Amino acid sequence: MCGIVGYIGKKDINKILLDGLKELEYRGYDSAGIATMSDGEFKEYKAVGKIKNLEKKIYQTSETKNNTDKSSTGIGHTRWATHGKPTELNAHPHLGDYSYVVHNGIIENYKELKDELIQVGKKFVSQTDTEVIVHLFEYYFDKLNDSKKAFDATISRLQGAYSILLITQAQPDKIYFIKLGSPLAIATCSDGEYYIASSQSPLIGLANSVTYLEDGISGVVYENKVEFFEKNKRVTNDIKWQDLPISKLSAQKDGFRFFMEKETYEQSSVIVDTMMGRIKDDEIVFDEFDSDFLKNIDGVLISACGTSYHAGLTGSYLFERLSKIRTQVEVASEFRYKQPLLSNKTLFIAISQSGETADTIEALKMAKKAGLKTVVVCNVDNSSMTRVADVTILLRAGIEKGVASTKAFSTQVTVLWMLSLYIGKQIKTISNKLLKSEIKALRETPKYLIIDENIHQKCQRLSKRYLHGDGFFFIGRDVFYPLSLEGALKLKEISYIHAQGYPAGEMKHGPIALADEKLFTIALMPKGLLYEKTKSNVQELIARDSVVLSISPISFKLADDFIKTKDSEHYMHEFFEMLVVLQLFSMEVAIRLGNDVDMPRNLAKSVTVE
Ligand code: AGP
Repeated sequence: MCGIVGYIGKKDINKILLDGLKELEYRGYDSAGIATMSDGEFKEYKAVGKIKNLEKKIYQTSETKNNTDKSSTGIGHTRWATHGKPTELNAHPHLGDYSYVVHNGIIENYKELKDELIQVGKKFVSQTDTEVIVHLFEYYFDKLNDSKKAFDATISRLQGAYSILLITQAQPDKIYFIKLGSPLAIATCSDGEYYIASSQSPLIGLANSVTYLEDGISGVVYENKVEFFEKNKRVTNDIKWQDLPISKLSAQKDGFRFFMEKETYEQSSVIVDTMMGRIKDDEIVFDEFDSDFLKNIDGVLISACGTSYHAGLTGSYLFERLSKIRTQVEVASEFRYKQPLLSNKTLFIAISQSGETADTIEALKMAKKAGLKTVVVCNVDNSSMTRVADVTILLRAGIEKGVASTKAFSTQVTVLWMLSLYIGKQIKTISNKLLKSEIKALRETPKYLIIDENIHQKCQRLSKRYLHGDGFFFIGRDVFYPLSLEGALKLKEISYIHAQGYPAGEMKHGPIALADEKLFTIALMPKGLLYEKTKSNVQELIARDSVVLSISPISFKLADDFIKTKDSEHYMHEFFEMLVVLQLFSMEVAIRLGNDVDMPRNLAKSVTVE
């Protein structure tokens, strides 16, 4: 949630901060702001809404218009509101009397700190938790007259998970930083300039060397130098610098209308990358595991949120069916507080596109603390989860920018399918015959993710009809049940229409009471899995006037609308083909409604608060 950038150097600082914020905008876009400093004087710009509003404001002033602004130090932020409404007053950077701060994450004890600071005369103008940081810093600076000591004293009082950048007139030309539970990276280039950001995308193309900070690392960036500290002690050797990719090309839209569309179309090729080197002849190979890692494992526990949870749920069917291992799936925000009974013979698998989802990180930490072997299935290397888990399996999906997750889901399911076969082989529960036929099916999967333009056009046409009504049920059985949950989530998050995924066989236990001509049902009717059973459930809905869109390789005359998918031997091929239909369908409905598909309201790409 939220995005942070910082820069010290001689280039056009407004452009650098704005470009960086644009890269991070998908993480939160309620408001944005920058503060820059030149010769000890501050300039501040803030705007509600998207970065383009901020850009307009910045280029209204003559200095910025004529490019005569000589500021050399600056910080910026794009916000997803947690405390206080999305207003300019609540937008970062927050000003004290002579310092500015930007912050990602949450300061849990901000109320106590605020009361304390009000008592010593500090005036608050925002409703945010962030503002306490800047007042606390100035309170300590006024006492200690040393900005490093004041920054250390400030962070020693903060509880929660955060990354922070602070600039102050008391010591201009420096940026103070801390990372604790929320990502932060510092990058540099041959010119000796420093760039700071909460993820690597704003740094690509500007810098060539980067360090992803570990929790608890704070420091100061100067022109031409950076110092790192841990618990007030200078750290040098433990800071690992690595090369940054130089091309931004993969993060562009490539002529598609939205990143979501581009990412939906990419799925067929990215799952080839996901499988690359992991399927050799008739074996699944995960070099990520040591040979005895899975020894003595007698169960699997998966935890995740949102789309990643749906992937986990799909995986649970595959694990039990293919590797015959008991598998449980938990929504991470529930798991972490239910005081679960954990056995160290259980393999814990966290699933996360970003690797930064607060609830999933906590679930992972809990499992690790309880002595379970931990694996994270993740798309972002060097993310918080990859640093906690014993083993990381990367999705290799490439940067996913659309807030509505698409290619992360298909690659997650692919990894889980492969893992179910790998585990089955390791614990000797899968026959060679089944392993062989599943691997054959896996190899054929990419072609089922290639988008048939006729189906895309049909989704475009159907989106007109399915705009109205009282809401949607997406129904399916077996793995098509988690797929129905995912279809409903996609539609909800970008079209803002109420939709619910449901097991097809459960409808008659209550929800069927909602069926009438204003209820839309999207029925997932695979040929290869429980077709007749699902068909009966759909007929029950048709008998009660629900408008039905059937997605199936078998034509179903009773349905109001029908999307024909390919015939296949394997139900997982049908799964992936139907997934694409659901993604295209929800995208076309959202486009027809005029919604911002890539940045839907109220959401953020990475949910780093619980
Ligand atoms: C998916 O479309 C959502 N934006 C959301 O549910 C997401 O999957 C969830 O927040 C989990 O994120 P993660 O995979 O990065 O952990």
